[in-house]
Amino acid sequence: MILPIYTYGNAVLRKVAEPISADYPQLSTLIDNMFQTMYHAEGVGLAAPQVGLPIRLLVIDLAPFKEDDPELGAFKVVMINANILDRSEEEVVGEEGCLSIPGIHENVPRAQKIKIQYMDADFKEHIEEFEGYKARVVQHEYDHLEGNLFTDKVTPIRRQLLKSRLTNIVKGKASASYKTKSA
Ligand code: NI
Repeated sequence: MILPIYTYGNAVLRKVAEPISADYPQLSTLIDNMFQTMYHAEGVGLAAPQVGLPIRLLVIDLAPFKEDDPELGAFKVVMINANILDRSEEEVVGEEGCLSIPGIHENVPRAQKIKIQYMDADFKEHIEEFEGYKARVVQHEYDHLEGNLFTDKVTPIRRQLLKSRLTNIVKGKASASYKTKSA
């Protein structure tokens, strides 16, 4: 089932999400629905707060990059109760967008490398290191669990320039090719 994506201005996007346990109701259905919703919206990552649920669950599938970079394109994960353990001091700037902030793309600095602990869909624990674009996407989705959005991280000048466009999204005036829920 395709779920509506909550857009900028919804309070759920600013909450610190809560951990869940393996008996969370209909967890596998929710995970399937999140992947379907993400594919339908042509995104590569989606966090539960973006479908209105303040829980520590995120999905990523970098399949659209398969042709350019098979290793990157093979990266598909479900992360439950993720916790970033370490971030490199070295940062890299790269362009990001977000399904909750339709039409806006900005350069965002991110740690080049991270170490993260999480549970997969079977509640098996993983501790892994990611770098480059994988690290960027994981950090973007992880930020959603902390109530942070990529537009918080742009330079003050860029933020000023984005202000009216963000206000339009809050007012429900943004257009997207997928179903959204404005504040
Ligand atoms: Ni996002």
